Amino acid sequence: MVKHRRILVGIGGGIAAYKVCEVVSTLAKTGAEVRVLLTHSAQQFVSPLTFATLSRHPADTDDTFWNPQQGRPRHIELGEWAEVFLIAPLTANTLGKLAHGLADNLLTNTVLASTCPVLLAPAMNTDMWEQVAVQRNWQQLLTDSRYHSLNPGAGILACDRIGKGRMAEPPEIIAHLQSLLYQPQRDLQGKTILLSAGGTREYLDPVRFIGNPSTGKMGIALAQAAQHRGATVTLVHAPIEDHLLALIPEVRRVPVTSAAEMQRAMLSHFPLADWTIMAAAVADVSPATYSSEKLPKRSLPTQLPLASVPDIVADLGQRKQPHQRLIGFAAQTGDIVAPALEKMQRKGLDAIVANPVDLPNSGFGSEQNQAIVLDKQGKKVAIAPCSKLLMAHQILDFVKS
Ligand code: C5P
Repeated sequence: MVKHRRILVGIGGGIAAYKVCEVVSTLAKTGAEVRVLLTHSAQQFVSPLTFATLSRHPADTDDTFWNPQQGRPRHIELGEWAEVFLIAPLTANTLGKLAHGLADNLLTNTVLASTCPVLLAPAMNTDMWEQVAVQRNWQQLLTDSRYHSLNPGAGILACDRIGKGRMAEPPEIIAHLQSLLYQPQRDLQGKTILLSAGGTREYLDPVRFIGNPSTGKMGIALAQAAQHRGATVTLVHAPIEDHLLALIPEVRRVPVTSAAEMQRAMLSHFPLADWTIMAAAVADVSPATYSSEKLPKRSLPTQLPLASVPDIVADLGQRKQPHQRLIGFAAQTGDIVAPALEKMQRKGLDAIVANPVDLPNSGFGSEQNQAIVLDKQGKKVAIAPCSKLLMAHQILDFVKS
């Protein structure tokens, strides 16, 4: 998604600049065209040589700004060149200047000389971040739809404080950049999107359950893509690893475990949703009985009586209002289209993502995925193997169209 794309990175004066080294390194290795510029104080923490080496291109500073070696002013050249502009770490000082349209160095002049989306990753001490003036500047800046936020997380800061102010982690920054390069507009602003993700668990006792290999990656990718495109997103999710959930800090999350819990959560959020995409792998059956104490091995039954669980999406299909769109997934082996069409009709869906789970680089747990998306009007679009984030964007495009 980033190959040959033009990404400008502005480094502010904060210790989190060390994390941006990894971002630049990863982007350059994956074939992006990366240019880096540093403020004067950024160079107290990291050197232009570090970024020149990682980006395979000379890094710019205020020295190259005021003494242009080439004919055109550097901020104009860089501003016109960039497809997306990442500013990380965003300091309180640069934030204040951007909020007021000020420009006194190469970074701030380049922001004003560009029109591409700007991704902001603030990082600072908790008290600095929570200052009324800083929060006012932040909120004011975000009213301009060109700016996209990567809110700082909470944790141990380099100043030994524990609190808000940690810069977003490199994988989250890179995912946002990929999304912005795919769709620079907030084309889903005003839409409310309800998603489900992960594999539900049906417990037999406190330690044993019937489950499936779903990791929730596809649902996380859908949440990221929808959020980047401006939608209001709620994700109802079965257990998902923390490092994946960390990719969507701004998405409203409703954690559940069993199919019955997922059904309750989906039902309560469904009435307000414009689009609902059911990417969760819901268990089809649960043990007929539950023991609240761990069963000793000798008491485990040799045959397990099962009860069926509610079909959540079919239930939503019956409650659906005309303005709502309901999309399911069909994880299939062998022929994926015919069973998916049958499920779409039986469950009252508007569209279904037929997803092969028996091919390499596809389905449960894989970084990549592929699918055929079908709708009830007979439209059929194949999504070639790609990252789950790219597939998520293509599913959203399909629903939008
Ligand atoms: O399991 P099945 O192939 O029927 O799943 C197709 C769709 O139905 C998926 O979107 C899945 O999330 C949903 N589903 C559900 N409740 C179930 C089983 C599946 O909502 N009990």
